[in-house]
Amino acid sequence: MTPSLVQAAYLVAALLFVLSLAGLSRHETARRGNVLGIAGMTIALAATIWLAAARASDPGLTLALIAAAMLVGAGVGLWRARSVEMTGMPQLIALLHSFVGVAAVLIAYNAYLSRGPLSGSEETLHLVEVFLGSLIGAVTFTGSVVAALKLSARIPANPVLLPHRHLLNLLALVASAALLVWFVLSHDLLPLLLMTVIALAFGWHLVASIGGGDMPIVVSMLNSYSGWAAAAAGFLLGNDLLIITGALVGSSGAILSYLMCQGMNRSFISVIAGGFGSEGKTFEGDHDYGDYRESTAAEVAALLRNARSVVITPGYGMAVARAQHPVADLSARLRACGTDVRFGIHPVAGRLPGHMNVLLAEARVPYDIVLGLDEINDDFSQTDVVLVIGANDTVNPAAVDEPGSPIAGMPVLQVWKAHDVVVLKRSMASGYAGVQNPLFFRDNTRMLFGDAKDAVEAVVRLL
Ligand code: TAP
Repeated sequence: MTPSLVQAAYLVAALLFVLSLAGLSRHETARRGNVLGIAGMTIALAATIWLAAARASDPGLTLALIAAAMLVGAGVGLWRARSVEMTGMPQLIALLHSFVGVAAVLIAYNAYLSRGPLSGSEETLHLVEVFLGSLIGAVTFTGSVVAALKLSARIPANPVLLPHRHLLNLLALVASAALLVWFVLSHDLLPLLLMTVIALAFGWHLVASIGGGDMPIVVSMLNSYSGWAAAAAGFLLGNDLLIITGALVGSSGAILSYLMCQGMNRSFISVIAGGFGSEGKTFEGDHDYGDYRESTAAEVAALLRNARSVVITPGYGMAVARAQHPVADLSARLRACGTDVRFGIHPVAGRLPGHMNVLLAEARVPYDIVLGLDEINDDFSQTDVVLVIGANDTVNPAAVDEPGSPIAGMPVLQVWKAHDVVVLKRSMASGYAGVQNPLFFRDNTRMLFGDAKDAVEAVVRLL
């Protein structure tokens, strides 16, 4: 393979990545998208390994070292991919972003320490790339580690609100800019080291100051940062494919974050700037909403038997209980009896983007009855029964009715407008945002307590 063949392979891989992203954007084509992405990555790896061996003084040793590293990485990757629960994906993704961050820092330092003789302007450009690569990488690294720790509940999800926190962020940016000038003029290691320490602290602070409720957006923001860090590494290594791939990840992460901000009614700028503008709203969750009504599987089965239209709104609890197969079974049985059954999916239901869609697709629920929030929200008032299966925050009327609530303004599935609502969960415990849900106390709501899978199976048996 000649270097121009490597460039051609990179071009093909880049095209496959673009086609892969296009495929992943729709249920029906997601599998093809995955296959195209795998094909692109295989071509990219083969070309890169060939290039590394061709440039090495001892190709045999280089290939052996790459093979050893890949074996360890692939072994750990395969083990984690098989063992991770779907509900543990966000923290795993956050951890993977931290690897990209640390890799970008190491590549930047390596490029600085091993740089050959360069002309004046080339050297300046190289030093700026080194500086920016390690800055973005370091912010991504600590930010992702904090996000992973928060998501896995190893540290509290509450925002850490340091005094003058926005001023601290601003100071970190100004100090980094000054260090960049020092670094470019002096070519010294010291300003690079100082900036890396500041960037590590900045990344930690940026994510620590964001509350648990906004974590999904932060994870996709970090996804975007990791893309830009990879693109910066691509510039340092002179690798066009890494630049293209990094830019694809960076921009798709930014677009996803923007869409999630819209879905949760959060300001995009505020989330990127470490919770800027959200002054750590606290909520006195001591409302007395009155009594709730408990139901039985038999009562729910009777309600469903008489219903003409049913909407199922699943949430995180369906994922925990692995109830998607009985839920699919329930919907199929009702449809077979002529009932109009649809699913209403909130954009941040569960713990990762598209979580519910993936589970329902796995259980072979037809795509055309799975609708998004905007598509279904106006239909609840004409719906006989809504089954809320392990969802909580995403169906909380407090988002609409209580301006002081931490989730105020977040668009929610307005299930309470239906004639009857049945909520399947294990207890009266709150959801991810930690706020009580007045839906449970409404006159048209009944609670069916228990594990979602067991409860749905019991209802299916009675049907
Ligand atoms: P949540 O508000 O998290 O509520 C889930 C409910 O499921 C809980 O109240 C829990 O109540 C119930 N549950 C847990 N295990 C169960 C089981 N085995 N059987 C039955 N019920 C069970 O869920 P949601 O409505 O999907 O909202 C998602 C929340 O997560 C939002 O606040 C969102 O911002 C946040 N978040 C989303 C993402 C993404 S990208 N989707 C990522 C991170 C965070 P019991 O304990 O009483 O059973």
